Amino acid sequence: MIEREVKVGLDIGTTKVCTVIGFQNDNSELEIIGVGSHPSQGLKKGAVVNIDQTIVSIQKSLEQAKLMAGVEIDQVSVGVAGNHIYSFNSSGVVAVRGEEVTLEDVHRVVEAAKAVVMPSDREIIHVIPQEFKVDNSKGIKNPIGMFGVRLEVKVHIVTGAVSLIQNLVKCVEESGVIPIKIVLQPIASSESVLSEEEKELGVVLVDIGGGTTDVAIWSNGCLLHSQIIPVGGQHFTNDLSVALKISHIEAERIKTELGCVIPEKTNQSKLIQAQGIVGTKPRDVPLKIVTKVLEARAEELLRTIKEILDEKVSEHEIAGGIIFTGGGSLIKGIVELGEYVLEIPVKIGHPKSLGGMTNIMQSPKYSTAIGLLLESHKLSKANVEKDNSLVKQSDIIARLSNSMKNVLKEIF
Ligand SMILES: Nc1ncnc2c1ncn2[C@@H]1O[C@H](COP(=O)(O)OP(=O)(O)OP(=O)(O)O)[C@@H](O)[C@H]1O
Ligand SMILES: [Mg+2]
Repeated sequence: MIEREVKVGLDIGTTKVCTVIGFQNDNSELEIIGVGSHPSQGLKKGAVVNIDQTIVSIQKSLEQAKLMAGVEIDQVSVGVAGNHIYSFNSSGVVAVRGEEVTLEDVHRVVEAAKAVVMPSDREIIHVIPQEFKVDNSKGIKNPIGMFGVRLEVKVHIVTGAVSLIQNLVKCVEESGVIPIKIVLQPIASSESVLSEEEKELGVVLVDIGGGTTDVAIWSNGCLLHSQIIPVGGQHFTNDLSVALKISHIEAERIKTELGCVIPEKTNQSKLIQAQGIVGTKPRDVPLKIVTKVLEARAEELLRTIKEILDEKVSEHEIAGGIIFTGGGSLIKGIVELGEYVLEIPVKIGHPKSLGGMTNIMQSPKYSTAIGLLLESHKLSKANVEKDNSLVKQSDIIARLSNSMKNVLKEIF
């Protein structure tokens, strides 16, 4: 195998584990040189519930990608999601030590914003600065070098359950690679799907996966809110399976081939053949019933998203509208139903096209994996070495506070 410096994104999803290997070419562009995707076993609603099965799925996905790329890999960026994720905004204030704001002042103020009371079973995954205020000047993205006596920061903090993050890290490590960066999945998807202009204008990224729907609200170029809803495409399939009394596999086939969330868009009188549970004959089922079942679930999910938006953001802050991505966004009619329920323009977001085998990675279901590859690429070589030595420590908090330093380095 050839030795090349490669970057890797590892998306451990509820339905698939996807590995994307990238390589920086001579023009400093990232090229995809290997992809591996294997059905995921061992996760439920975005969180690991069976370590052994998860390790097998990760290893198969890694092997496939390594074989395609012809390289060995040792470090990966990993996505995290699940019902245990809880995000909130916080703020901090410090006195500026000298006349001008220095990097050290910025570190101190972010540390002050981070000093929130948290139960011992939760840990911080991200501390993302939203804006700084120097004396009375607001909305500053980079305060370093500015004159002032008082420095304030508003941050978005993402936390997760210590044990569930440890399970994820263990699965990755036991699969033979080192998790150098842990990234909240909707942040990774945003990285691959959204442009800087969209984030500036204000936009909502909704990644409809198999087990969860991940929301990231961006405005003025910063992350206002992130949330994981424990409902995804699998719930649509389960509903069909129960309503039609058919197997999960048959329900998945009907959903992806014929499913639509707007009954009026389908032929109301059409009958489709559904294979019953083992031993029973195929039955004719009105397509109308299929779409009614899918519509009910889609509407419920969209109403949950609407409640989040109503609570967290005003319409003028998200002028860029809503962007659906993830495999679940492929269901027919979701854009129209989304616009009807959310009363905001909706479109489907695809991962940015990179060099190499981009064409096969253009599906919305690869948004998180490509985003994780980009996150991995963002880490400078020095950071990689530093993170690498940190991941060998058992103190997970130490590692994640380091990822906060990375966030700061990315900003400045
Ligand atoms: N053409 C399609 N129509 C409808 N649904 C689809 C289609 N293609 C894929 N899906 C659904 O997308 C879901 C998988 O999406 P994705 O690959 O983004 O999930 P994941 O990353 O494995 O899960 P999660 O992010 O929730 O952990 C499945 O529920 C699948 O049924
Ligand atoms: Mg996913």
